[in-house]
Amino acid sequence: MLGPIPAWRGRPIFVVRRTPEALEALPTINNQLQDPESNQPEQPDYARNIYRSRDPEVLVLIGVCPHLGCSPAPRLAIRPEPFEANWKGGFFCACHGSKFDIAGRVYNNSPASRNMEVPPHYYETDNVLVIGEDEETA
Ligand code: FES
Repeated sequence: MLGPIPAWRGRPIFVVRRTPEALEALPTINNQLQDPESNQPEQPDYARNIYRSRDPEVLVLIGVCPHLGCSPAPRLAIRPEPFEANWKGGFFCACHGSKFDIAGRVYNNSPASRNMEVPPHYYETDNVLVIGEDEETA
């Protein structure tokens, strides 16, 4: 994971390269999530998919909990965690216990009621990620 980077409007940005195992796990937990299809507008249209990203391997998120604004901690590995025995990787907000998967999708029974936000972004080249702009906002 790269970040958190206080890169956009004073908010931390998380950039995560997801493993093949993490990508395979995403559809297996849809029934545990509040908005698995990302129907709420917490991401640009190009990130309205199960990966919530342009490139399935790379997740770009605003690292702020939609509940009351704490910054969730990355818990990226697929392994048992104290807060979830069957953890598939993602983010945990210790302030009030919200859980998010490795696409920033919020779990059921979390205090947060929305997925984490995906900022506008695009790839200028294969190695340069621009955050805060895209073809819609340029
Ligand atoms: S601020 Fe994250 S759960 Fe309340």
